[in-house]
Amino acid sequence: MRNAFFLTCVAVLLLSCSGCTGPEPQYRTTATVKDIMDSIVDPNADYLWDAVSSTSSAKGMIEKAPKTADDWKEMKRHTVALMEATDLLQIPLRPVAKPDEKAENPQVELSPEVIKTLIDSDRGAWIKHNHTLHDATTAMMKAVLAKDTTGVLDAGDQIDKACEACHKQYWYPDKPKN
Ligand code: HEC
Repeated sequence: MRNAFFLTCVAVLLLSCSGCTGPEPQYRTTATVKDIMDSIVDPNADYLWDAVSSTSSAKGMIEKAPKTADDWKEMKRHTVALMEATDLLQIPLRPVAKPDEKAENPQVELSPEVIKTLIDSDRGAWIKHNHTLHDATTAMMKAVLAKDTTGVLDAGDQIDKACEACHKQYWYPDKPKN
């Protein structure tokens, strides 16, 4: 009898709580780390890397660099997008890839499941890599605001190193960890 009473109380509690599952999670992590790399990080970094160059041609050296105010404004837009991607990547619970997505080159790339485990086992390291890329984009922003093409090249190198350092730890380590 006491048991039945107890069970009824539990049932009533459960039923009355069915509508109180707490607020919706704050962030909607629909896009994966892979999506963010492909849609935001890579295209914006490419724009910045391609912005300043010198190539030799039959007509001599061709120097490419942002010139007009609009060119520099465009540089700023791509820098902001790359910079903010570093925060998007840190949003907790974001999946690395969609469940049906596998490593494209399994001989050298870790699987999304292994990458996810590596990230979750040491969030501090993941955050640090994102901050390194954020620092590099801050250097890019400084160069862009100063319209300093040499600064753009230097910050571009810094960005490249930040990408590489993170990829070596999580995506294609020298010695596969799986
Ligand atoms: C904080 C860590 C981190 C940083 C910094 C980082 N990446 Fe990634 N990147 C990853 C991980 C992890 C993957 C593997 C995810 C996957 O593709 O499943 C990846 C995958 C990629 C991919 C493959 C995407 C695809 O469609 O398979 C590209 C391209 C890429 N990164 C470009 C870049 C570039 C360019 C930079 C620097 C501007 C950069 N990444 C910086 C962690 C990082």
